[in-house]
Amino acid sequence: MKIVVIGGSGLIGSKLVPNLRSNGHEAIPASPNSGVNTITGEGLAAALQAASVVVDVTNSPSWEDSAVLNFFETSTRNLLSYEASAGVKHHVALSVVGSERMPESGYFRAKIAQENLIKNSSIPYSIVRATQFFEFLKGLADISLVAGKAHLAPVLFQPMAADDVATWVGRIAVGPPVNGIVEIGGPEQFRLDELVRRRLATLNDPREVVADPRARYSGAEVSERTLVPGKDARLGDTRFETWLTQPAAKAAAATH
Ligand SMILES: NC(=O)c1ccc[n+]([C@@H]2O[C@H](COP(=O)([O-])OP(=O)(O)OC[C@H]3O[C@@H](n4cnc5c(N)ncnc54)[C@H](OP(=O)(O)O)[C@@H]3O)[C@@H](O)[C@H]2O)c1
Repeated sequence: MKIVVIGGSGLIGSKLVPNLRSNGHEAIPASPNSGVNTITGEGLAAALQAASVVVDVTNSPSWEDSAVLNFFETSTRNLLSYEASAGVKHHVALSVVGSERMPESGYFRAKIAQENLIKNSSIPYSIVRATQFFEFLKGLADISLVAGKAHLAPVLFQPMAADDVATWVGRIAVGPPVNGIVEIGGPEQFRLDELVRRRLATLNDPREVVADPRARYSGAEVSERTLVPGKDARLGDTRFETWLTQPAAKAAAATH
């Protein structure tokens, strides 16, 4: 089966492509680096020729409110339109658990706009909503700084390894379209502030993490269960302490 991975050079895409290939599929990574751009349409028609499935694991280069909305709307519209012309049978997109519960965030409004375009298109689809990646824990501190300290709400948090995200997205991509949402998450629950504090300690990052019940998450108000998936979520295998011993944790330390 020919499966085009849009955003195939990114964190999840670069794990998904070899995963699909090892299961015998023809997986093609596509992104601006390889001459395929979902904003301009460049290279899309050729990349999608004879594709059965398209997996969208792109991310916006800018997370500023209007830029991120413009990215996900334009990119998704273009992609769905080229997919319809190419006869693609299954569109898979990676979204975020709890997006609809965080409307104060420009980033999550953009993810909901992306999901709505997919739901309203003619292409059969599966939307995979993942919890936060372990690889993103330091990034969470970076986007939560107030006067040099990371302010994070002590709410429930169930992040997962990017490898497990790629495994689940791969499984769903080769299965039948669910025409709905599948949630995926990590095998353990933590407190958001606690896990970011632990991650910074492993990185010898001296920044203090403040447990602040009023702290926003990417601009959104969060409460106890905003970030955790429902009871039917499929779970990754990798526990946080195990992930810390893996090369992925060291790679994340270098790039995120
Ligand atoms: N971070 C989290 O904790 C989390 C949790 C749940 C879900 N997600 C979702 O996971 C998805 C993937 O995240 P990620 O961290 O793997 O992303 P990433 O590492 O930032 O990679 C982004 C990818 O998008 C590609 N891209 C950017 N602009 C493009 C364009 N105009 N046309 C085609 N491709 C373009 C990039 O290509 P180039 O390399 O060629 O620039 C790159 O391959 C996102 O949609 C995000 O919402 C993230």
